[in-house]
Amino acid sequence: MNREPFYITTPIYYVNDVPHIGHAYTTIAADVSARFHRMMGQPVLFATGTDEHGQKIQQAAESRGLTAQQLADQTVENFKKLWEVLGISNDDFIRTTEERHFKVVTAVFEKLLAQGDVYKGTYEGWYCVPCETYVPEAQMGEGKTCPDCKRPLEKMTEESYFFRMSRYQEPLLRFYEENPDAILPRTRYNEIVSFIRSGLKDQSISRTTLKWGIPVPGDDRHVIYVWFDALINYLTVCGYPDEEAKWKQYWPYVRHLVGKDIIRFHCVVWPAMLLALGVNPPRQVFSHGWWTVEGEKMSKSRGNVVDPFEMVNLYGKDAFRYFLLREVPFGLDGDFSESALVKRINSDLANDLGNLLNRTLQMIERFKGCTVTACGPVDPLDLEMARLASSTFETVRARMSEFAFDEALKAIWSFISRMNKYIDETAPWKLGKENDPRLDSVLGTLYQALIQIALMVAPFMPETACRMWNQLGLAGDPANALFEDYPWGFLPEGTTIRRDEVLFPRIDLKAWEEARAEREAKRNLLPDPGEHEAEVGVEEFRKIELRTARVLSVEPVPNASKLYKLNLDLGYERRTIVSGIREFYEPAELVGRDIIVICNLKPAKLRGVVSNGMLLAAESPDGKELALLTLDRPITPGSRIH
Ligand code: ME8
Ligand code: MG
Repeated sequence: MNREPFYITTPIYYVNDVPHIGHAYTTIAADVSARFHRMMGQPVLFATGTDEHGQKIQQAAESRGLTAQQLADQTVENFKKLWEVLGISNDDFIRTTEERHFKVVTAVFEKLLAQGDVYKGTYEGWYCVPCETYVPEAQMGEGKTCPDCKRPLEKMTEESYFFRMSRYQEPLLRFYEENPDAILPRTRYNEIVSFIRSGLKDQSISRTTLKWGIPVPGDDRHVIYVWFDALINYLTVCGYPDEEAKWKQYWPYVRHLVGKDIIRFHCVVWPAMLLALGVNPPRQVFSHGWWTVEGEKMSKSRGNVVDPFEMVNLYGKDAFRYFLLREVPFGLDGDFSESALVKRINSDLANDLGNLLNRTLQMIERFKGCTVTACGPVDPLDLEMARLASSTFETVRARMSEFAFDEALKAIWSFISRMNKYIDETAPWKLGKENDPRLDSVLGTLYQALIQIALMVAPFMPETACRMWNQLGLAGDPANALFEDYPWGFLPEGTTIRRDEVLFPRIDLKAWEEARAEREAKRNLLPDPGEHEAEVGVEEFRKIELRTARVLSVEPVPNASKLYKLNLDLGYERRTIVSGIREFYEPAELVGRDIIVICNLKPAKLRGVVSNGMLLAAESPDGKELALLTLDRPITPGSRIH
């Protein structure tokens, strides 16, 4: 077996945005690769993280009334949560605001400065703030706009440090000539090589116009440009320059997965920086394609950004993982649609995979009392299945080494289909009824095939593979297994199978359509985050008398399933309010807490009880969640809130 180390990275994502399917896509792809190579017995280092510096982050933070660090601290949790929900098995998570990274960026800058690859000069140009990039005059859009995002450019003149990239044009061309698989797919390789041939200019790598970044060592009017800082994350994760063992083990095998939006940074600037440092350029950069949604570009203003949390809630993480990698060849653009996802769940997952498991287990149950038995004499058809299993694995291995996830899945699924057909051909239900001794080899062949399938599926759908494993009566988790420990022929006689719920229940299309329409309707009802209530002056706000109140007791209002009567202490008085929070809290959870009430609300009678005020609570858009506003420390009851 090949025990070559495997170091795989995703881009580190900007923290000015919520994670969406684009981010999920790259990270799932990296995860599937990492899991596959771990199961091959290779040492794996899999890292993802967040890109937290730069003007874009600073501006996003300002517009929300936060410091950049606060914004980063908040958003990073969304990313971490999503990776947990999606079953991502990263070994490291790097934030560019971490001390360890700061040190490496500073060291790299100092080294390049000392050797003359970084120098100080002045820069004048047209800058696109959202894209964090200067746009050459020749590429500017009409009215001096950004060719990518179409927004107006800003004229900037600054003193700047430069990276002497021009010096690395020839070495870089030589490197790519000698390493034609350093950029995949091939079309991207050609694109990059001709870009380098057209001439490389020195790169501005510092800014004096903002503070949110890593200071230039010895000249802290400047901060280091966010891309120079961000790319170095791949070194930090790998232990450069001090953790020698890790560095030596993994760096030669680094593979970067990136979207096609950022290949120039990864295939030109980055390897040039590395050559300057005397470090090998990345072994491979794979540039995958771009997702649109229902045929349109994904964007906040269109309101069509697909929320991966929602997809997982609706369809499960494994189906979502499977769909993204199966639907579109890695490297090509793709279109996301929920109906395509549902189709794949019903056909590939429920019908093909789920049925194969279920049919096999049903027969072991019926004819063998749930016990796995020895195989018995095999016939040519069984041997053909055995050969097919091993050639399928060979195909999967080869395709996985070139990130052709869809091809690997196609090979697994053609094996699954063949096994379903094998059941039809051998008709084990007949063999069972007729007490035919051939039943043993048919069930044995099916059982062995399912082990192989569970293993091959495990990197893509870890949870499903584990459920298959359990139903087959095996202990442990295939995600932690090695392929080599389960060759064809592994048949644990005497094992008791445990048939359980089907892996993927079929989705009823009519019900799904209806539920979807309802969801859409609800979404349209939600307030657009940009359009709120009309503006109010501070005088108007002051008219609302908000005070803290301590809950003394709580009782249900008779004949009103949603209402509680709360007796409150405001220090200077006691009062009663009625509130519709009964579904969400037990009385005991409320008593003794300090809450917030509007005191000068006109009294109202609710189910015969007079309510003198209203408490404040947050409600989720679908009305299913509710959380009470409380205080983060005790304060004298009746305190005014400003
Ligand atoms: O560029 N389809 O971060 P970012 C496919 N911080 N992939 C998509 C996608 C889509 N529609 N949208 C986003 C940055 N992606 C820098 C990277 S690395 C040293 C610094 C994925 O938050 C894809 O991987 O804008 C793309 O390259 C990445 O998200 C951009 O993430
Ligand atoms: Mg981007």
